[in-house]
Amino acid sequence: MNEERRTLIKTASYEAEPHEVGRVLLLYSGGLDTSVMLKWIQDEYEAEVVALTVDLGQPGEDFEVVRGKALRLGALDCHVVDAREEFARDYVLPAIKANALYGGGYPLFTALGRPLIAKLAVDYATTSGCDTIAHGCTGKGNDQVRIESAVIALAPEMKIIAPVRGWQMGREEEIAYARQHGIPVKGGTESPPYSIDDNLWGRSSEGGPIEDLDEPPRDDVFQLVTRPEEAPDEPEDVVVAFERGGPVAMNGERMELVALLERAGEVGSRHGVGIVDHVEDRIVGLKVRDLYEVPAAAVILAAHKELEKLVGTIHQNTFKPHLDDHWAYLVYAGLWYEPLRSDLDAFMDAVNEQVTGEVTLRLFKGSVRPVARRSPNALYDPALAGFGQSGGLFSQQASPGFIELWSLQSRMAYGVRNKRKEGT
Ligand code: ARG
Repeated sequence: MNEERRTLIKTASYEAEPHEVGRVLLLYSGGLDTSVMLKWIQDEYEAEVVALTVDLGQPGEDFEVVRGKALRLGALDCHVVDAREEFARDYVLPAIKANALYGGGYPLFTALGRPLIAKLAVDYATTSGCDTIAHGCTGKGNDQVRIESAVIALAPEMKIIAPVRGWQMGREEEIAYARQHGIPVKGGTESPPYSIDDNLWGRSSEGGPIEDLDEPPRDDVFQLVTRPEEAPDEPEDVVVAFERGGPVAMNGERMELVALLERAGEVGSRHGVGIVDHVEDRIVGLKVRDLYEVPAAAVILAAHKELEKLVGTIHQNTFKPHLDDHWAYLVYAGLWYEPLRSDLDAFMDAVNEQVTGEVTLRLFKGSVRPVARRSPNALYDPALAGFGQSGGLFSQQASPGFIELWSLQSRMAYGVRNKRKEGT
């Protein structure tokens, strides 16, 4: 057994001791880290490995290639699960209802995907007789928190290993290990030096030159969204229809949620919409810069917010954003199974019962702007809103009386405080 690993100190009860590891369910992406892990676990633990690859709508991924690679590296089996529909319905839709943005800019695509990946890991580990789940997260990120919290909530008896956190191989050593074990190492100098994560709700890039906060992003970061300056010179209007908070049609065409989110991503990308340069407070204390490409979220959230505002009262509209923020924070922080999250979902669902209607967005060179909206539930009466109008439910003559009462306490307090100042 490897010397270094034997000296690792176990700090949580769910971490696996080497002798407890018989068969491992490995969350496999096909990238370098998890490919090295696939071999390393077999060598170091003398354990069997079953691989699981989850399709959350990563654009351009060939899952058959990923599966072939896992089998070639000695996996007993590699399950490829198309979880796009479940992801859209049970994770992205609640996020839409909560207008979910962390730190004012990050629509949580990675954070939403992790609890689903963890749930599938538990399911497949159980059905394929695995005692341990392995993932490729480092010890510095949020994803380890999200995956492990979810796994141990669902399956307290499951053991977890995260080799990247402990194997103390540097990048060079890892590549050497890969070459030595016949693991293809792609890229080298021609592929951009970023750490990428993506799914149908967005794409993130971290690391390398992005870590220079005082430098603007290099163009090679953006692989999804057209650079705004290169976007079409003509604006495009897009009509998004919602029923009870969920998007159901675009430009009059009804679509399943996955197809609709893909379509929103395409049109947003074309117009340079959804680029976010975000310095983020991670759960583990670090501040890190992320470059996000979130065209689908930029389009759908803009439309949803606009419609929600039209059907909500002033009280709902001032209160809900606080709960939206807290929902986003819990999900960001890896607490998908925290009951407060589902309590908040009940509130989100209740408000979203009214969110039915259509919003027209104008997309142009990186901007997305609501230009028209309509809803059978709108709390809007054009007869009352007009300038010169009076009568019916609204009497302009009543306004001075309202103003006198409305401002009473504030005026009184202002007077008291100023008198006190004069007296001293
Ligand atoms: N900063 C984002 C988050 O914490 C994105 C993380 C991307 N994950 C990754 N393994 N590259 O959710």
